[in-house]
Amino acid sequence: MAANDLQANRLPGVDQSVSIDDLVALSGQAADILDQIRDAMLEPYPRKKAPTFTSASLASLCGIDKQKLKYLTTKGELPAGTSKGAGRAKEFSLEEAIQWIQATSGAKRQAKPTGARARVYAIANFKGGVTKTTTSIACAQGLTLLGRKVLVVDCDPQGSATQLCGFAPETEIPEDQTLLPLFYGEQESVGYAIRPTYWHNLDLIPATTYLSDAEFEVPAKLLSDRKFEFWDILNKGLKPVLADYDVVIIDTPPALSQLTTNALVSADAILLPCPPEGMDFASSTQFWRLFSEVASKLPGVSAHKRYDFVNVLMTKVRSTDLSRAVQEWLTKAYGSRVLPISIPESSVQVGAAAMLSTVYDVAKSEVSSSAYARIREPFDRLVEYLDSQLVRAWLKENEQ
Ligand SMILES: Nc1ncnc2c1ncn2[C@@H]1O[C@H](COP(=O)(O)OP(=O)(O)OP(=O)(O)O)[C@@H](O)[C@H]1O
Ligand SMILES: [Mg+2]
Repeated sequence: MAANDLQANRLPGVDQSVSIDDLVALSGQAADILDQIRDAMLEPYPRKKAPTFTSASLASLCGIDKQKLKYLTTKGELPAGTSKGAGRAKEFSLEEAIQWIQATSGAKRQAKPTGARARVYAIANFKGGVTKTTTSIACAQGLTLLGRKVLVVDCDPQGSATQLCGFAPETEIPEDQTLLPLFYGEQESVGYAIRPTYWHNLDLIPATTYLSDAEFEVPAKLLSDRKFEFWDILNKGLKPVLADYDVVIIDTPPALSQLTTNALVSADAILLPCPPEGMDFASSTQFWRLFSEVASKLPGVSAHKRYDFVNVLMTKVRSTDLSRAVQEWLTKAYGSRVLPISIPESSVQVGAAAMLSTVYDVAKSEVSSSAYARIREPFDRLVEYLDSQLVRAWLKENEQ
């Protein structure tokens, strides 16, 4: 369309009204274009690669010094890394690094006791864009770097977590490999939908837009079976796989949908990311009100459900006066539930997101170290906190 035509279309006299038939035609046209470029989309889709680690960064992840790392390497029980070319420093793959972390952390980090199950953490907030997905994937990656085995469940039909895990939701994920068959009652365990990712010890149940059909299936089933426990589908489906993992992290959509209700009911704990901004604070208050109203009407949930913890995590925190004022409101409103860890607004995160990545994907050499440290350090602390809660829950489970 020529520039003149564009201008003409904006003139007040030109009728721009749109009928539903027009929208149907528009969607057909868009789908045709998508079909035409689908092959091209599959080709250049950025396959994600896990980061590699230098001896120094590996030693730091293991909590040992470089000399000890060298000494342990000579014993030959752990991977020695590879050097790309003569005289070049050694590099360790993520898988090798995780092997090292697991071998060296045995004494200081409690392993999952025999018979214990994974704890399920839901990252939730009805507000969009508050960093639910970024937090979900960064925490999942961070927990693997402590030696944990993690399952990420993408409950959001937008499929953003699926993308961060290296898959193109629309072109690579058939609907029968999402949670949909579980919600249709065709499957009893989520096992069929679990797939490994580019990141060692991080598995995924992916999502695509088709997953939103779950929202229609539930009311339809309720019509024929009034006793249908629509809130317990995911909880029941996850149970058979919990023994295989240390942690399950559920990324949720920005709505109180059937999927979100299921995520919150199957969760052992809830983390609510919330930027300290007026609107985000206001909608966070709605979250607790709406969810508690719904949960209190669910048989079996209202009387017996206890969360390991429910925390508010301040994210995208800016150092402006207004932001500080809202941080105070958040603290007043939620008291000790607000974590003493907050994630700053960060250009490093913006850059990482453009590459469908998180701070744990970014090679340290790519960023100025102080800007990187400012966002990496609070994530590391958050991951340590989640891990400590995990251990606490296992020990409690063991006592019972
Ligand atoms: N610390 C940060 N600083 C700056 N931008 C950030 C930070 N964390 C996340 N973002 C950006 O904010 C945007 C929203 O993040 P994200 O997709 O994780 O939110 P969300 O709550 O999952 O959104 P939705 O409700 O759509 O699912 C993304 O572009 C992300 O890269
Ligand atoms: Mg999201």
